Amino acid sequence: MSTILLLLRRIDRWRFLIIIRGAEYHKEEIMNEITISVIKADVGGYVGHSSMHPNLITKAIQSLEKQKDKGTIVDFHVTHCGDDLDLIITHKLGEDSGDIHKMAWDIFVECTNVAKELKLYGAGQDLLSDAFSGNIKGMGPGVAEMTFEERKSEPVIIFAADKTSPGSWNMPLYKVFADPFNTIGLVIDPSMHEGFTFEVLDIFENKTVKLNAPEDLYDLLCLIGASEHYIIKNVCKKDGTIAAATSTQKVNLIAGRYVGKDDPVMIIRCQSGLPAVGEVLEPFSMSYMVTGWMRGSHWGPFMPVSVEDAHPTRFDGPPRVIALGFQVTNGTLIGPRDMFADPSYDLARQQANEIANYIRRHGPFEPQRLPLSDMEYTTLPHVLNKLKDKFK
Ligand code: F6R
Ligand code: MG
Ligand code: MG
Repeated sequence: MSTILLLLRRIDRWRFLIIIRGAEYHKEEIMNEITISVIKADVGGYVGHSSMHPNLITKAIQSLEKQKDKGTIVDFHVTHCGDDLDLIITHKLGEDSGDIHKMAWDIFVECTNVAKELKLYGAGQDLLSDAFSGNIKGMGPGVAEMTFEERKSEPVIIFAADKTSPGSWNMPLYKVFADPFNTIGLVIDPSMHEGFTFEVLDIFENKTVKLNAPEDLYDLLCLIGASEHYIIKNVCKKDGTIAAATSTQKVNLIAGRYVGKDDPVMIIRCQSGLPAVGEVLEPFSMSYMVTGWMRGSHWGPFMPVSVEDAHPTRFDGPPRVIALGFQVTNGTLIGPRDMFADPSYDLARQQANEIANYIRRHGPFEPQRLPLSDMEYTTLPHVLNKLKDKFK
């Protein structure tokens, strides 16, 4: 090493020193960055599609514990919302890391084996491929990831939902990052006053567009109001700092048939120039309508609940959302705090039950049932096919 060093010094002493300094600086930058990967899949329900057997959670924890001991990951937390297993992982390998995605895939396969032994319902439901092929995206499980340099203090909220689809995050993300009636920080905090940039995915064309709030507000709403077609992928500050990331997978589009809903996850960073924890949670104080519920074929009220209550049973619902708060400290997940285990969401839960009662009375009629265009990937087309020849 020292011979090479001397030689290089002789060739170009100053250039060499600059390269070394640059490399050191770059190394430090990577060292300070942390990636949060939230990867989820339905690998078997208990009972039916209503919840998760504790043995699956135990299996996932044991596997992630080993990865933590090996140093592959920094920290993790395992949770569930209904029949979906959610792996929350912090690591240094960046987004779309083949190692992390393969690790999650292998855990889902192990948990599927446990589910098969217990004959749990729909074992391996979301694993649409026989073998892992480089990136878990497009293989069934949902993924939300973000990489950032930890601030002096880093409060993060992880959301997970069941019996609904990724477009369910559109309305709360709009309210949190663009609506001053929700987020007063947009008006009175100079560090948020210039607004945010939304990246929106057209899930049918697989193209994205970036729109700014407040400048492009009406264009943004044109798109994201159609939440089965346009899905907010992430939200950044105008300087590019990541603030929110969602999972955008549509398993039915991948499989070409009804497999289940896409039960999405989302990561939001909070405070100090980003919306406060309370501003991030505020949209869920209203039980707004989302698609999903029974057989992924209905509109239903979104009910914010604690993990304790994340077991949808009435008409396989109504759709649920949980929120886990963490302080991310040198990559360690300090927490979770179960954010919806708070009586101030009681009214939203009551509202959800009242709406559920009302809309259920419509039975198989729209608007309880989804419009035909959204039923394309359900089992309905098979029934319609049988009727085809009867039309004269
Ligand atoms: C919705 C969901 C359930 C099932 C329903 C029928 O996302 O998972 O509502 O669609 O329980 O399930 P199968 O067809 O498996 O009997
Ligand atoms: Mg299921
Ligand atoms: Mg589910």
